[in-house]
Amino acid sequence: MSTIAEPRAPRTAVRRSGPNLEKWGWIYMRASGVLLVVLIFGHLFVNLMIGDGIHALDFAFVAGKFASPFWQWWDVLMLWLALIHGANGMRTIVNDYVTHESTRRVLVWALWLAAAFLILLGTLVVFTFDPCIPNLSDGSVLAEFCSAQG
Ligand code: HEM
Repeated sequence: MSTIAEPRAPRTAVRRSGPNLEKWGWIYMRASGVLLVVLIFGHLFVNLMIGDGIHALDFAFVAGKFASPFWQWWDVLMLWLALIHGANGMRTIVNDYVTHESTRRVLVWALWLAAAFLILLGTLVVFTFDPCIPNLSDGSVLAEFCSAQG
Protein backbone atom coordinates (compact mmCIF):
# COMPACT_ATOMS: atom_id res chain seq x y z
CA MET A 1 0.00 0.00 0.00
CA SER A 2 1.34 3.48 -0.77
CA THR A 3 1.12 6.32 1.71
CA ILE A 4 0.34 9.88 0.69
CA ALA A 5 2.56 12.44 2.44
CA GLU A 6 0.86 14.92 4.75
CA PRO A 7 0.00 18.13 2.86
CA ARG A 8 2.21 20.27 5.16
CA ALA A 9 5.10 17.77 5.49
CA PRO A 10 8.55 19.44 5.09
CA ARG A 11 9.56 19.38 1.43
CA THR A 12 12.92 17.72 2.07
CA ALA A 13 11.12 14.69 3.48
CA VAL A 14 9.19 14.04 0.28
CA ARG A 15 11.32 15.30 -2.62
CA ARG A 16 14.91 15.45 -3.82
CA SER A 17 16.68 18.75 -4.47
CA GLY A 18 16.64 20.36 -7.92
CA PRO A 19 13.82 22.05 -9.82
CA ASN A 20 10.36 21.30 -8.48
CA LEU A 21 8.90 19.69 -11.62
CA GLU A 22 5.56 18.95 -9.95
CA LYS A 23 5.15 22.65 -9.16
CA TRP A 24 5.97 23.61 -12.77
CA GLY A 25 3.58 20.94 -14.03
CA TRP A 26 0.86 22.43 -11.79
CA ILE A 27 1.57 25.93 -13.13
CA TYR A 28 1.70 24.61 -16.73
CA MET A 29 -1.81 23.09 -16.41
CA ARG A 30 -3.24 26.49 -15.38
CA ALA A 31 -1.26 28.60 -17.88
CA SER A 32 -1.94 26.26 -20.82
CA GLY A 33 -5.60 26.03 -19.75
CA VAL A 34 -6.00 29.82 -20.09
CA LEU A 35 -4.28 29.84 -23.52
CA LEU A 36 -6.28 26.79 -24.67
CA VAL A 37 -9.59 28.55 -23.91
CA VAL A 38 -8.59 31.35 -26.31
CA LEU A 39 -7.10 29.00 -28.96
CA ILE A 40 -9.90 26.39 -28.89
CA PHE A 41 -12.80 28.85 -28.85
CA GLY A 42 -11.08 31.00 -31.53
CA HIS A 43 -10.64 27.83 -33.62
CA LEU A 44 -14.31 26.80 -33.17
CA PHE A 45 -15.58 30.34 -33.87
CA VAL A 46 -13.56 30.79 -37.08
CA ASN A 47 -14.32 27.29 -38.42
CA LEU A 48 -17.97 26.95 -37.42
CA MET A 49 -19.54 30.40 -36.98
CA ILE A 50 -18.27 33.04 -39.39
CA GLY A 51 -19.22 33.10 -43.10
CA ASP A 52 -21.08 29.93 -44.13
CA GLY A 53 -19.97 28.32 -40.89
CA ILE A 54 -19.81 24.55 -40.84
CA HIS A 55 -21.13 24.38 -44.45
CA ALA A 56 -17.90 25.95 -45.72
CA LEU A 57 -15.73 23.20 -44.25
CA ASP A 58 -14.01 21.16 -46.95
CA PHE A 59 -10.52 20.29 -48.18
CA ALA A 60 -10.07 23.71 -49.82
CA PHE A 61 -11.05 25.48 -46.56
CA VAL A 62 -8.34 23.59 -44.67
CA ALA A 63 -5.84 24.15 -47.51
CA GLY A 64 -6.64 27.88 -47.36
CA LYS A 65 -5.98 28.01 -43.62
CA PHE A 66 -2.73 26.05 -43.87
CA ALA A 67 -1.52 28.47 -46.56
CA SER A 68 -1.37 31.17 -43.86
CA PRO A 69 1.52 31.23 -41.35
CA PHE A 70 -0.87 32.78 -38.80
CA TRP A 71 -3.21 29.72 -38.83
CA GLN A 72 -0.27 27.33 -39.09
CA TRP A 73 1.15 28.74 -35.86
CA TRP A 74 -2.30 28.93 -34.22
CA ASP A 75 -2.90 25.23 -34.93
CA VAL A 76 0.61 24.12 -33.98
CA LEU A 77 0.40 26.03 -30.69
CA MET A 78 -2.98 24.42 -29.98
CA LEU A 79 -1.51 20.99 -30.83
CA TRP A 80 1.55 21.35 -28.59
CA LEU A 81 -0.26 22.93 -25.64
CA ALA A 82 -3.21 20.50 -25.72
CA LEU A 83 -1.08 17.36 -26.13
CA ILE A 84 1.33 18.29 -23.34
CA HIS A 85 -1.62 19.40 -21.17
CA GLY A 86 -3.53 16.18 -21.91
CA ALA A 87 -0.50 13.93 -21.35
CA ASN A 88 0.43 15.69 -18.11
CA GLY A 89 -3.19 15.49 -16.92
CA MET A 90 -3.27 11.75 -17.72
CA ARG A 91 0.09 11.37 -15.90
CA THR A 92 -1.56 12.86 -12.79
CA ILE A 93 -4.43 10.39 -13.06
CA VAL A 94 -2.03 7.44 -13.59
CA ASN A 95 0.07 8.56 -10.59
CA ASP A 96 -3.08 8.80 -8.48
CA TYR A 97 -4.56 5.42 -9.38
CA VAL A 98 -1.80 3.02 -10.50
CA THR A 99 -0.18 1.66 -7.34
CA HIS A 100 2.06 -0.96 -8.99
CA GLU A 101 5.34 0.94 -9.57
CA SER A 102 6.56 -0.69 -12.79
CA THR A 103 3.07 -0.56 -14.38
CA ARG A 104 2.88 3.13 -13.45
CA ARG A 105 6.30 3.79 -15.03
CA VAL A 106 5.37 1.98 -18.26
CA LEU A 107 2.09 3.90 -18.53
CA VAL A 108 3.72 7.30 -17.92
CA TRP A 109 6.40 6.50 -20.51
CA ALA A 110 3.73 5.38 -23.00
CA LEU A 111 1.88 8.67 -22.44
CA TRP A 112 4.92 10.84 -23.21
CA LEU A 113 5.89 8.65 -26.18
CA ALA A 114 2.40 8.94 -27.67
CA ALA A 115 2.34 12.70 -27.06
CA ALA A 116 5.83 13.19 -28.59
CA PHE A 117 4.89 11.10 -31.65
CA LEU A 118 1.65 13.03 -32.24
CA ILE A 119 3.36 16.39 -31.71
CA LEU A 120 6.03 15.47 -34.26
CA LEU A 121 3.53 14.10 -36.78
CA GLY A 122 1.10 17.04 -36.39
CA THR A 123 3.84 19.66 -36.64
CA LEU A 124 5.22 18.02 -39.80
CA VAL A 125 1.75 17.90 -41.37
CA VAL A 126 1.00 21.56 -40.61
CA PHE A 127 4.31 22.88 -41.95
CA THR A 128 4.75 20.57 -44.96
CA PHE A 129 1.11 20.44 -46.11
CA ASP A 130 0.75 20.85 -49.89
CA PRO A 131 -2.83 20.86 -51.25
CA CYS A 132 -1.77 20.41 -54.87
CA ILE A 133 -2.11 16.69 -55.58
CA PRO A 134 -0.44 15.90 -58.96
CA ASN A 135 -2.92 15.91 -61.90
CA LEU A 136 -5.75 17.49 -59.91
CA SER A 137 -8.24 18.47 -62.63
CA ASP A 138 -11.74 18.22 -61.19
CA GLY A 139 -12.64 21.81 -62.13
CA SER A 140 -12.63 22.93 -58.49
CA VAL A 141 -11.27 26.26 -57.22
CA LEU A 142 -8.36 24.28 -55.80
CA ALA A 143 -7.57 22.72 -59.21
CA GLU A 144 -7.56 26.21 -60.80
CA PHE A 145 -5.33 27.52 -58.02
CA CYS A 146 -2.88 24.62 -58.41
CA SER A 147 -2.66 24.86 -62.21
CA ALA A 148 -2.03 28.63 -61.86
CA GLN A 149 0.85 27.79 -59.47
CA GLY A 150 2.43 25.70 -62.25
C1 HEM B 1 -10.49 24.45 -22.82
C2 HEM B 1 -9.32 24.59 -22.27
C3 HEM B 1 -8.87 23.82 -21.05
C4 HEM B 1 -8.78 24.28 -19.77
C5 HEM B 1 -9.14 25.68 -19.26
C6 HEM B 1 -8.24 23.21 -18.95
C7 HEM B 1 -7.92 23.32 -17.61
C8 HEM B 1 -7.42 22.31 -16.82
C9 HEM B 1 -6.89 22.44 -15.47
C10 HEM B 1 -6.81 23.74 -14.67
C11 HEM B 1 -6.51 21.21 -15.05
C12 HEM B 1 -5.89 20.84 -13.70
C13 HEM B 1 -6.95 20.31 -12.78
C14 HEM B 1 -6.35 19.86 -11.45
O1 HEM B 1 -5.12 19.88 -11.27
O2 HEM B 1 -7.13 19.46 -10.58
C15 HEM B 1 -6.79 20.29 -16.12
C16 HEM B 1 -6.58 18.94 -16.04
C17 HEM B 1 -6.67 18.09 -17.13
N1 HEM B 1 -6.92 18.43 -18.44
FE1 HEM B 1 -7.46 20.24 -19.08
N2 HEM B 1 -8.06 22.10 -19.73
C18 HEM B 1 -8.43 22.42 -21.02
C19 HEM B 1 -8.35 21.59 -22.14
C20 HEM B 1 -7.97 20.27 -22.13
C21 HEM B 1 -7.77 19.44 -23.31
C22 HEM B 1 -7.95 19.91 -24.77
C23 HEM B 1 -7.41 18.21 -22.86
C24 HEM B 1 -7.10 16.95 -23.66
C25 HEM B 1 -6.17 16.99 -24.63
C26 HEM B 1 -7.38 18.25 -21.42
C27 HEM B 1 -7.08 17.19 -20.57
C28 HEM B 1 -6.91 17.27 -19.20
C29 HEM B 1 -6.64 16.14 -18.33
C30 HEM B 1 -6.51 14.66 -18.77
C31 HEM B 1 -6.50 16.65 -17.03
C32 HEM B 1 -6.23 15.88 -15.74
C33 HEM B 1 -7.53 15.74 -14.98
C34 HEM B 1 -7.33 15.38 -13.54
O3 HEM B 1 -6.26 15.66 -12.93
O4 HEM B 1 -8.28 14.82 -12.95
N3 HEM B 1 -7.71 19.51 -21.00
N4 HEM B 1 -7.32 20.98 -17.19
